[in-house]
Amino acid sequence: KRVFPDPRFPDPVRPDIEDLVFFLDSEDPGENAYLFDKAAEVRDIHCGRRMVVRGLLEFSSHCSNTCLYCGLNRNNLRAQRYRLSAEEISEGAALVHAAGIRTIVMQSGEDSFPADRLAEAIREIKKRFDLAITLSVGERSRADYALWKEAGADRYLLRIESTDEKLYRSMHIGREVATRLECLENLRGLGYQVGSGIMVGPPGQTAEILARDILFLAERECDMIGIGPFIPHPDTPFGSARAGGVPLTLRTLALLRLLTRNAWLPATTALGSMDRDYRTDALKAGANVLMPNFSPREVKTKYEIYPGKRCVTEGTGACAGCTERIAREAGLELDLSRADSLKMKTAP
Ligand code: 5AD
Ligand code: FES
Repeated sequence: KRVFPDPRFPDPVRPDIEDLVFFLDSEDPGENAYLFDKAAEVRDIHCGRRMVVRGLLEFSSHCSNTCLYCGLNRNNLRAQRYRLSAEEISEGAALVHAAGIRTIVMQSGEDSFPADRLAEAIREIKKRFDLAITLSVGERSRADYALWKEAGADRYLLRIESTDEKLYRSMHIGREVATRLECLENLRGLGYQVGSGIMVGPPGQTAEILARDILFLAERECDMIGIGPFIPHPDTPFGSARAGGVPLTLRTLALLRLLTRNAWLPATTALGSMDRDYRTDALKAGANVLMPNFSPREVKTKYEIYPGKRCVTEGTGACAGCTERIAREAGLELDLSRADSLKMKTAP
């Protein structure tokens, strides 16, 4: 049973848009440091002083969507396409499990694979391993979502990308934010733990729009919220745009921590793929999830959503050692358990 708001805590303050814009725009190092410290403190109180870990398996780079920012979009003829076999997917799950991790995130482009093929893979993983399964395969019908839930999937990640209709249209061809909202509603209705999120700094995003997205994500009580900077991919229409700023991304993350308190907030791979690895900084600003890459080495470079992606040259599973180091640097305990949503409560 889902209980909102969490009865153990008083309602958090809901700032208005102007307040959020003020904090988003603030570049004062002292003020930022204060914001990050507060966010880490709120994280520690509401989630514990720990970093939870999800193993990521990118099982297909095929995509029928046209997101103008993403290297996997179907119009990018230079993108390298692959699809892992059922066996390779199982091997990936085995690796995640052997690393002691108890959540696998199965991500792909909007590959138009038949729903039962994925359902079969889910059943196989559930039969063989003690793993929570998070799916991240884009917009699909309610029936497909239902089939995968039935097969054993636990969670679903679908970023809203932007709640601003106009901005959303400028980032996608022939798609509407309303469809995303409907998908998120369907997922929630089916009992998935639902994650969403946005990129920080794509062309056309203003501080006001970002502030409204933050309020949207907080008010929806998303179980997990992924926040990463936009990184231009040269083979996409947004290829010559400027990248999103790291400090603005960290401020967004910290504000979301203050507003959501007990949501899972990953230190995203995009934050690890800038001029240096900023994932530890994210953890010090309120994040508490790491998603190391467990895709087979041969395909890692092919899943190129944006260039310079962290971990792609490492061997399969090499991130495990790194994961420990990052938690230590951030002063957090490593938690490999399935770590379900902190917003779910069992009925008294
Ligand atoms: N830079 C940063 N993040 C991106 N994503 C897609 N393309 C890019 C990019 N160029 C993000 C989207 C998507 C997630 C899987 O990756 O938010 O939901
Ligand atoms: Fe992947 Fe370090 S987290 S190599």
